[in-house]
Amino acid sequence: MRDLVAVDLAKCYRLLNHGPTVLVSSAHAGQQNVMAAAWAMPLDFDPPKVLVVIDKATHTRQLMEASGEFVLNLPCQAQAAQVLQAGSCSGKEVDKFQASGLQALPGDKVAAPHVAGCIAYLECRIISEPHNQQQYDLFIGQVVAARADPDVWHDGHWQFEGHDEKRSLHYIAGGNFFSIGQQFSVAPYSAS
Ligand SMILES: Cc1cc2nc3c(=O)[nH]c(=O)nc-3n(C[C@H](O)[C@H](O)[C@H](O)COP(=O)(O)O)c2cc1C
Repeated sequence: MRDLVAVDLAKCYRLLNHGPTVLVSSAHAGQQNVMAAAWAMPLDFDPPKVLVVIDKATHTRQLMEASGEFVLNLPCQAQAAQVLQAGSCSGKEVDKFQASGLQALPGDKVAAPHVAGCIAYLECRIISEPHNQQQYDLFIGQVVAARADPDVWHDGHWQFEGHDEKRSLHYIAGGNFFSIGQQFSVAPYSAS
C-alpha cells in the first residue's frame, strides 16, 4: 500500500460521487470503533460537507455524538470480508478493530482514527443538526482533511484500471457487494 496523498478539499466530493460503501471510524475517551455504512454521500462543495446515516443503536453513534467527529474511509474489494464483519457486530460488545482485522491509524486533523488499507478517507467534524440527527439518524460532517491512494486516484479522479483488488465496494444486502465496474466517457446527447 502506497502512502495516501492529500486530496484538494474542493474536489473531495469526487471521492464519494460514485456511491461507495464506507467504514465510519470514531473515537472518544480512549475508545475507538469502526462500522460499515452504505448510506453516505457528498452534500456540498465549499466548505465540503458529507451526509451519513447512523442508527441510534450503534456504538459509533455514541462516539460520534460525544466527540463531534468521524472519518469516512473507503474500503476496497480486498477488504470486503472485514467490511462485512465491521457491519455485523457492535463495538459495545467487542473491540471492532480486532474483531474485523482492520488496523487503526492516527487521524490528521481529528482524534478519530482512519483505517489502514482503505483507498481514501475523509476526516469530518459534525455540523450539529439535532432535529435531523434525532428524527432521521442523519449526520452532516464538514470535511477537514482528505487523502486517497495514488494507485487509483490521479488528477482528481478515480482510475481503477489495472487495480481490481482496489476497486471500491458497493453494498447490496445479505453479504453481497458489487465492486465498481468499468469507467466510460460520453459527450452530452445531441438531437441534431
Ligand atoms: C455493508 C453494510 C452497510 C451498512 N450500512 C449502514 C448504514 O449506512 N447506516 C447504519 O446505521 N448501519 C449500517 N450498517 C449496519 C452497521 O454497520 C452495524 O449496525 C454495526 O454493527 C454497528 O456497529 P457499532 O455498534 O460498533 O457502531 C451496515 C452494515 C453493513 C454490513
